Amino acid sequence: MPDGQAFYLTTPIYYVNGKPHIGHAYTTVAADTIARFMRLDGRQVFFLTGTDEHGQKVEKSAEAAGLSPIECCDQISRNFRSLTEALDISNDDFIRTTEPRHIAACQALWTELVKRGEIYLDAYRGWYAVRDEAFYADSEVSEPDENGKRFGPHGVPVEWVEEPSYFFRLSAWGDRLLELYEQHPDFVGPESRRNEVASFVRSGLKDLSVSRTSFSWGVKVPGDPKHIMYVWLDALTNYLTAVGYPDVESARFQTFWPPSLHVMGKDIVRFHAVYWPAFLMAAGIPLPKAVFAHGWWTSDAQKISKSIGNVIDPIELINTYGLDQTRYFLLREVSFGQDGDFSHLAMTNRINADLANNFGNLAQRVLSQVAKNLEGRAPGIVSPTAEDETLLAAARALLPAVRYAMERWELHQYLAQIWDVLGAGNRYIDTQAPWTLRKTDPTRMETVLAVLIEVLRIAGILVQPVMPRAASALLDQLAIPADARSFAAIDAEGPITAGTVLPPPQGLFPRIDKA
Ligand code: MSP
Repeated sequence: MPDGQAFYLTTPIYYVNGKPHIGHAYTTVAADTIARFMRLDGRQVFFLTGTDEHGQKVEKSAEAAGLSPIECCDQISRNFRSLTEALDISNDDFIRTTEPRHIAACQALWTELVKRGEIYLDAYRGWYAVRDEAFYADSEVSEPDENGKRFGPHGVPVEWVEEPSYFFRLSAWGDRLLELYEQHPDFVGPESRRNEVASFVRSGLKDLSVSRTSFSWGVKVPGDPKHIMYVWLDALTNYLTAVGYPDVESARFQTFWPPSLHVMGKDIVRFHAVYWPAFLMAAGIPLPKAVFAHGWWTSDAQKISKSIGNVIDPIELINTYGLDQTRYFLLREVSFGQDGDFSHLAMTNRINADLANNFGNLAQRVLSQVAKNLEGRAPGIVSPTAEDETLLAAARALLPAVRYAMERWELHQYLAQIWDVLGAGNRYIDTQAPWTLRKTDPTRMETVLAVLIEVLRIAGILVQPVMPRAASALLDQLAIPADARSFAAIDAEGPITAGTVLPPPQGLFPRIDKA
């Protein structure tokens, strides 16, 4: 990967209508892992997250809480910011759509779209779902139930709306969108989502209502302040705001636009892969390189919902299991892009098997022998055997292998590859049994431990994006200086110099007792 090449990465901005839960934590942790990976791999990263604060849904939940909309936004936005800190997220900016810089960006984009003839005034008559902040066609809406209520996809209540509205000429962009998906197959991932999005576009796009007059919490339409901009047009624009739009000459815009990757859940891929590129093409702004949708978490096989009462609080997970353990579980348990099921049992098993018994145990076995038998001095590799070379080769092949996984956003594969090598390290220590060599062949014992230290060094560097704290604790125990922890240092630095004094070892991952 070319050194210093810019990488602009975003999470969705979160609605401020409730407490952050595991789904939000998941999106953010996944994106953070990608951001950290890219930085360690020499890219210049701009990583953005934030909160989506306008629209009817937020207005209604503020009302329900007896707060003014901005009070409600301030409070809940703060919760999301604290979650970002609690998850050790390395974001470079945290945007709120109520900030003046964002309102200015939305109005500038709107003005540009009007100037290009892409927006016109008409009237909207149709279904609207506040919960999704989405319009639905007749064909997507159910027949009335016994109370006369109708529902959109996934049982979301819809209401009939009739009001003056500005429209965006979405219908004109269908062919260009299909061309985009065809010419840039990586634009939408995973493939199942690309097919879904393409078939939605192929079924015919209608012009999109992009303003509402029946509520007031949002960005005013320039020149017609009775109209509030459709919250998705407002929300998506955050990705432009954060890099300085409308100042397209600014250094940040020049360096980072267009985004390299928008990460989000599968529920909102339509907005990112259909509406968003259409808005951008219509405004003459270059398109993001990729949009990737992850799956949804259920809890003990049930949909997560406030009414069922099975919402999982990520802060509780961190307090119970530890931050790195939580991050690891989320990314390793399911294939990135697929749905996954959360249970405390799965989490306990995963942490005990992969972290305590595999990674942590290997580090502990190696480092405690170095402390005990070698007075804490790193050994060197002398006359390596075929077994030594095989394990070292597997560890050295990890960097290209994890890069390959990352190019496909396969975060689970990223970890699986590293854990294969750690597993091989554990088998190797069992067969080489360095503890029995202490008396019989101390030089051989040193080589075995040195090979394993090299495996731990490489694994420690590579797990930094997922488990920043545990990785840093391990690299400290290996006395690796801060400037020798980048991916380039894996080959450039090579094995730790023999004789380096290692600090006393400390356990990395405690075992969790089953409840
Ligand atoms: N505000 C919009 C996004 C605007 S981006 C320009 C929004 N916000 S949200 O708070 O409802 O959702 C944010 C993210 O959380 C989405 O990516 C969504 O997929 C994710 N999740 C919410 N619940 C989830 C699960 N149960 N499982 C996994 N992710 C889920 O949509």
